Amino acid sequence: MSNRLADKVCIVTGAGRGIGLAIVKAFVAEGAKVVVNDVDKEAANLAMDQIIAEGGQAVADYQPIGTVDAAESLLRTALDAYGEVDVLVNNAGILRDRMIHNMSEEEWDSVIQVHLKGTWACSRAAIQHWRPMAKTEGESGVPRHRKIVNVTSASGLIGAVGQSNYAAAKMGIVGLTKTWAKELGRLNINVNAIAPAALTAMTEPLVQDADAAKARLARFALGRYGQPEEIAPAFVFLASDESNYITGQILCVDGGLVI
Ligand SMILES: NC(=O)c1ccc[n+]([C@@H]2O[C@H](COP(=O)([O-])OP(=O)(O)OC[C@H]3O[C@@H](n4cnc5c(N)ncnc54)[C@H](O)[C@@H]3O)[C@@H](O)[C@H]2O)c1
Repeated sequence: MSNRLADKVCIVTGAGRGIGLAIVKAFVAEGAKVVVNDVDKEAANLAMDQIIAEGGQAVADYQPIGTVDAAESLLRTALDAYGEVDVLVNNAGILRDRMIHNMSEEEWDSVIQVHLKGTWACSRAAIQHWRPMAKTEGESGVPRHRKIVNVTSASGLIGAVGQSNYAAAKMGIVGLTKTWAKELGRLNINVNAIAPAALTAMTEPLVQDADAAKARLARFALGRYGQPEEIAPAFVFLASDESNYITGQILCVDGGLVI
């Protein structure tokens, strides 16, 4: 364990498994106290219990990300547990892939709600909490950086067949990232996004069939899917003070999928 996130309070949505779980574990290893949000209560509790058993600090939250109420409740969970929040990672996500002519309104709405509205709502809650403190700190000349790390995707940068809902949401998240970086920079709130590619429950179905796997992996310069643990260090960097002069950027951590 080193201490790049010593005592920082970090909220990670969708952290019960996959990339989110790897992020909370990496954050705790760097000294952070975490809020493990996941709509899958069992997964959130398991992650929390594991972290606590290994000597870390974690609290679980089960809010379904996608509404203002859920976002405000999540923020309250963090403040009740730790009294402060330093980092928000908007990671929760779902897929409802379908070609445009077959996509239902429910498939469109649910993906937009979790990814785009969820990212907006959670960030809005954090920013409303941070703004008055950041203004006072700025006037006192002792600025403190706070971080939002969003999660986009190759689909949000170059599009993807069957993912008009997901690509629209993830491209929207790129827009939110750049807009908030401009709105909040003067308050020392850094806003960046990561476009990951990792083998998780979300992506495993894409490589189950040998031919599909071959075609998909041919698109990666490194020729393979990464593991969630290979994605998490980039989140640590963007959450830590090492990235205080970086904002409004999209970092691909994807084995060279998008070049
Ligand atoms: N795996 C990849 O290659 C890849 C590529 C690009 C982007 N992403 C993005 O990375 C993020 C994590 O993906 P993953 O691969 O770890 O997926 P995953 O399916 O393994 O994990 C997603 C987690 O989010 C939770 N979740 C879903 N909806 C939620 C909600 N409304 N509220 C709270 N929790 C919710 C799920 O229960 C699950 O634990 C997502 O935003 C995804 O779009 C992943």
